[in-house]
Amino acid sequence: MKLLVTGGAGFIGSAFIRLLLAEDSAVQIVNLDALTYAGNLENLESVSADSRYKLAHVDLRNAEAVSQTVEEAAPDAIVHFAAESHVDRSILSPKPVIDTNFVGTFHLLEAAKKAGVKRFVHVSTDEVYGSIDEPNEADESAPLRASSPYSASKAGSDMLALSYWTTYKMPVLVTRASNNYGPYQFPEKLIPLMIANALEDKPLPVYGDGMQIRDWLYVDDHCRAIRAVLERGKAGEIYNVGGSKDLPNIDVVHKILAATGKTESLIRYVQDRPGHDRRYAITSEKLMTETGWAPQMEFEQGLAETIRWYQENSAWVERVRSGAYRQYYESNYAERMAADSD
Ligand code: NAD
Ligand code: TYD
Repeated sequence: MKLLVTGGAGFIGSAFIRLLLAEDSAVQIVNLDALTYAGNLENLESVSADSRYKLAHVDLRNAEAVSQTVEEAAPDAIVHFAAESHVDRSILSPKPVIDTNFVGTFHLLEAAKKAGVKRFVHVSTDEVYGSIDEPNEADESAPLRASSPYSASKAGSDMLALSYWTTYKMPVLVTRASNNYGPYQFPEKLIPLMIANALEDKPLPVYGDGMQIRDWLYVDDHCRAIRAVLERGKAGEIYNVGGSKDLPNIDVVHKILAATGKTESLIRYVQDRPGHDRRYAITSEKLMTETGWAPQMEFEQGLAETIRWYQENSAWVERVRSGAYRQYYESNYAERMAADSD
């Protein structure tokens, strides 16, 4: 199969490419990626010399370049990961998020329609359902209640992608996964940020009271789910992908401190995120029943493996945390830390 993957130099996209090249000898992959701050070719070092893999350094915001790349690659299927993926950055600066996640997806859909692509998997998030009250879980028919510019851009692009099925019969499938964790995740999201800071004895900034709940999904389990949807999902359908591991943020932080042998005095309760969703919760019953997928990684084991990876790859962390990262860290955390909620 000829695949065009977007955002393959990012956290989940690179895991997906590594997994597919390892498990499918017949696959050929073109990776369309703009290599933003979150796109890192080091994540693909292990496959860069593989003749089945090729990089197309292209920005989704450039409609013509996207169209040309899709036409040249002539893929059987597209798996669309590329996005501005971080809620806090979307709050600080929403425009690139709308431009890439919504307009960029539009460019890709148009290119795919023109090229007659047979399958289009749009990778989305459980955040589109917004905060879910205990003890409920959102299924795929739950209303969309996006809270941040990031989740609104994903909800919008989900609807746009599905409209290409309804209107043009382009075979679009949408996946909505819960919070991912694992190796190679940019240290701006909760788990890698807390691990990286703990390893360097830096403060661990917990937003608000730390009692917000997220469901944690190991990245390789997510990639297997996407593969299952690509191969066995029904066109026009949405599939939730959950890890079945709901935890308050503060419990995750305690587990990281215990596993790294660091002191709890590193915890700082800081000013909350505006519009912060209290709880995400989804059911993946549909995906499990229709494709036989189930998450395989236990959270404790996945967290231990992730921590080991960050311990062994401190140079990677240092490199991705240099340059523009410092500016982001300052703008997101300086005020929050100053307004420390004692
Ligand atoms: P990431 O931020 O690690 O990587 C994003 C990738 O997209 C990078 O390689 C970047 O260079 C590329 N990209 C960004 N803007 C681009 C543009 N304009 N043109 C081309 N490439 C561009 O993201 P991730 O965490 O790997 O997330 C991948 C996808 O999965 C996203 O669509 C995200 O919404 C979704 N998702 C993520 C999570 C999570 O917990 N990380 C959970 C559910 C869904
Ligand atoms: P994050 O990893 O940004 O993912 P999302 O916002 O997409 O769920 O955040 C996960 C949770 O952790 C969320 O409730 C916000 C919280 N959080 C902190 O408490 N401190 C931090 O420094 C970060 C980045 C997140």
